[in-house]
Amino acid sequence: MAKVIVDSEYLKEIDKARRELRALISNKNCAPIMLRLAWHDAGTYDVNTKTGGPNGSIRNEEEYTHGANSGLKIALDFCGNLPNALKVSLAGCCIMQGKYKTFTWPSILHGAACQSVVAVEVTGGPAINFTPGRKDSKISPREGRLPDAKKGVPHLREVFYRMGLSDKDIVALSGGHTLGRAHPERSGFDGPWTAEPLKFDNSYFQELLKGESEGLLKLPTDVALLDDPEFRRYVELYAKDQSTTCVKAWLVFIADLENSFKTDQTEAVTLDEDAFYKDYAESHKKLSELGFTPTPTGAKAIVKDGTILAQGAVGVAVAAAVVILSYLYEVRKKMK
Ligand code: HEM
Repeated sequence: MAKVIVDSEYLKEIDKARRELRALISNKNCAPIMLRLAWHDAGTYDVNTKTGGPNGSIRNEEEYTHGANSGLKIALDFCGNLPNALKVSLAGCCIMQGKYKTFTWPSILHGAACQSVVAVEVTGGPAINFTPGRKDSKISPREGRLPDAKKGVPHLREVFYRMGLSDKDIVALSGGHTLGRAHPERSGFDGPWTAEPLKFDNSYFQELLKGESEGLLKLPTDVALLDDPEFRRYVELYAKDQSTTCVKAWLVFIADLENSFKTDQTEAVTLDEDAFYKDYAESHKKLSELGFTPTPTGAKAIVKDGTILAQGAVGVAVAAAVVILSYLYEVRKKMK
């Protein structure tokens, strides 16, 4: 299969595709099912045989008709009906008819990966680095690689370790259930996990620790995250109030600034990040790149984005700190 060339033209097309996806997901309120589609495409990966994974194969009828994928044809059809003749390769990305001519089937592979990144962002979740350049595959894995919601801790480890993922990835990614709901006709389960299923936040973990709540769902695999001490450690960390974490980070940051202006800016930015968002973004990226080695051009583009993002965050942090310090200074002056 020809190698995917990730040049500036290609990156521009991806950018356009992201805008189309953003509009589609907002209009149809379909972020949850888009995220699930990407996860089910990627979650078949086998690190030993290097088969399955985020390669768009879920668009094959043979695969989307697997029992675990019940209902996902809806998401595939949303992608197929994108405006302006833009199509999205299910696991992969944007396709190419009409204005997106520079894509060809084998080069489209990031569809699902791309749309899940947009789905998380649109609902208020963390920004996730997206490295373009995957190739779509027409080969579907055998049925039975995705997790069974009725099972427990050993099963979760067996499935996620097969993908090459860790305990931390299992818990962080399970936080994807902050979005959406179960449908009895698809899975036999019913209801949302949180009170606001179109908002990406850490309430999934808070609900899990609270126990049974009327109208809210907990799958056996969700509850299993409380049974294992290693999993539970992450559940408790991710359930911590994000605003508290943020305020604490600011207090430390301001104290450092007041003391001697010796604050390490990188540390300040890290402190300001919520643990769940940070880990989720890392694990999601890992999931979306299973079996995929970014091309040097793609990698370069991402590094550049990352640097710009980090610089932007530092700039915002410093500007906000200056405003807060000026305010504190005025208050102190008045008190004297
Ligand atoms: C840990 C093992 C997992 C199991 C056993 C599991 C199982 C399920 C089940 C049974 C449903 C209900 C499907 C329906 O009836 O429509 C569901 C929905 C969903 N899952 Fe998972 N899941 C797992 C992990 C994940 C991960 C890793 C993600 C994303 C990172 C995710 C994202 C979602 C989303 C967003 C929905 C809602 C879909 C909708 O509203 O249509 N799940 N999952």
